[in-house]
Amino acid sequence: MKVVVTRKFPDSIINPLRDKYEVVMWEYEDKVMPRDLLLQESKDADALLVNLTDDINDELYEQSPKLKVVSTMAVGYDNIDVAGAIERGIKVGHTPNVLTDATADLTFALILASGRRLLEAADVIRRDEWKSWAPFYLTGQEVSHKTIGIIGMGRIGEAVAKRAQGFSMNILYHNRSRKREAEETLHASYVTFDELLERSDYVVLLAPSTPETKKMMGHEQFAKMKKSAVFINTSRGTNVDEEALYEALKTNEIYAAGLDVFDQEPISADHPLLKLPNVTAMPHIGSAALETRMKMAQMARDHIIEGLEGRDLTHEVN
Ligand code: DGY
Repeated sequence: MKVVVTRKFPDSIINPLRDKYEVVMWEYEDKVMPRDLLLQESKDADALLVNLTDDINDELYEQSPKLKVVSTMAVGYDNIDVAGAIERGIKVGHTPNVLTDATADLTFALILASGRRLLEAADVIRRDEWKSWAPFYLTGQEVSHKTIGIIGMGRIGEAVAKRAQGFSMNILYHNRSRKREAEETLHASYVTFDELLERSDYVVLLAPSTPETKKMMGHEQFAKMKKSAVFINTSRGTNVDEEALYEALKTNEIYAAGLDVFDQEPISADHPLLKLPNVTAMPHIGSAALETRMKMAQMARDHIIEGLEGRDLTHEVN
């Protein structure tokens, strides 16, 4: 059987596949496998080990009649036509749980960096512009005791709430369904989307990317936020209307934003958002801790073996 791997992975990850199957692996870790090559190699493939940068859609399924498993090294699977896969009996695997803490850590790092203006402050020193300690120099917003509003109370949302407890924050959340257990254990209060926007000092977007969540944060939503509020996005860039976000930041309708994800990735350095001092931007590194990424890679690899051996995938999307 043939397995196509769309990024270069270490031998320790890939050798268990090589022992059992013919493996075709793209030779770069930092470059997307060209679409035409992916299509060509998929024609007779039994399984694909993919990343969030690969578009796995009808065009690919139609020309890959042997395909049995698509395994992505990510918790999000908005790049995969899951319904189309299920229709064809193709199993889809993803990698939840192992990245929850790393992503929650990065979310909190963005909360602290954006609220307390850490990148601006670090730049002042690097440019040799620090003249003197001053009473109101580089003052930001407090984090402790403030109100955090979490949109999307899944595993990562709960892990962020746990961290917020350590900062004595008042925790609000909004989710498709209520999470009674989280309400009890994390002392989180369920509120409507509008109430969350109006009351939160830190609005944290963690909703998955779906047709319903597309541009869920737009002009109307930013206008509802406090002028002192910070917006954080560690979900998917498609959930935000970036022009509206730019306007809200530029006109001080909101205080700052911490962003790990963008509508178009990689974002270009001349993107208007990156010209604003009150934007802290990261190149989609939510889960980028070495141990976490190794666990994600192992899990994605194991899903290939499970699927090709005719077993259920440990974390199957359906
Ligand atoms: C995911 O897993 O969906 C993240 O965005 C990348 O780690």
